[in-house]
Amino acid sequence: MGPKLLQLCTLLPSTHDKLAAHYEVHQWPAEAAREEWLRDNASGVRAVVTGGHLGITNEMIDRLPDLGIVAINGVGYDRVDLDHAKAAGVRLTNTPDVLTDDVADLAVALMLNVMRRLPAADRHVRDGLWPHGPQALTRRASGRRYGIVGLGRIGHAIAERLAGFGGRIAYSGPNRKPVDHDYHADVAALAAKSDVLFVATAASAATRALIDRAVLDALGPEGVLINVARGSVIDEDALVAALAEGRLGGAGLDVFVDEPHVPETLLGLENVVLAPHVGSATRETREAMGNLMLDNLDAFFAGRPLPTPVV
Ligand code: DGY
Repeated sequence: MGPKLLQLCTLLPSTHDKLAAHYEVHQWPAEAAREEWLRDNASGVRAVVTGGHLGITNEMIDRLPDLGIVAINGVGYDRVDLDHAKAAGVRLTNTPDVLTDDVADLAVALMLNVMRRLPAADRHVRDGLWPHGPQALTRRASGRRYGIVGLGRIGHAIAERLAGFGGRIAYSGPNRKPVDHDYHADVAALAAKSDVLFVATAASAATRALIDRAVLDALGPEGVLINVARGSVIDEDALVAALAEGRLGGAGLDVFVDEPHVPETLLGLENVVLAPHVGSATRETREAMGNLMLDNLDAFFAGRPLPTPVV
């Protein structure tokens, strides 16, 4: 039996099988059974596997006295207190790069779905309304001014895809990058110059509610917001109000502040396309994420350098 490991998130069956072949895997039980589980099982847990959207609490780290590594099956680590993990001597890994293309694809798909109103078109056909109409005309997605908040790995991949759409690309972030796109240090200034604003920045204290009312108003009633980062990067109340009041043209959202809760108002708006945090949810990418997560665990227990360490 290999090292004792606590699994907090769901994994592909194939990833789970590989994990179970080398580790003594314990599933995190339902809420009512957790206290008892911790009392009886916390001792000896050397590793935790968790999702980017779940992370791990400081309390959980403190209650696993033998914990050596938290392996995130995802790229985001905003749900982990890095200082706390470091102080507890716990290593942290994630799965960058392997999901970049899929998240960028979804960002562009959301833009197309919002601007060409594909959910409504699909419903129109399914409801047997075709050829009766009239179906509302939609808006052209190509040749626009595209703004990208955060030109990291995913932001860059979005820009690469948008290059095929013509138009202009600009970005914002803490630093200017060695690229030809226009740079705006201020997000509201970027929004004022954008028809579509893509949010692809990592969640952190610095980016919390970065997309606020001023940014949304700068984007304006014809503007479209796409978020494939984290819900916390947007002031969600301000977003809902802007959409409901027609101060923002539309939104494509894969992430929300309090997932899986989605603000009720959004469910009734036609100018919004909603997805249940599926940026990386292709078979190929989930398999690759699982393999990279396993590589990190195996390296840790073999005393080798971690392939993709965070701390
Ligand atoms: C990630 O990898 O961070 C995804 O958003 C899933 O949590």
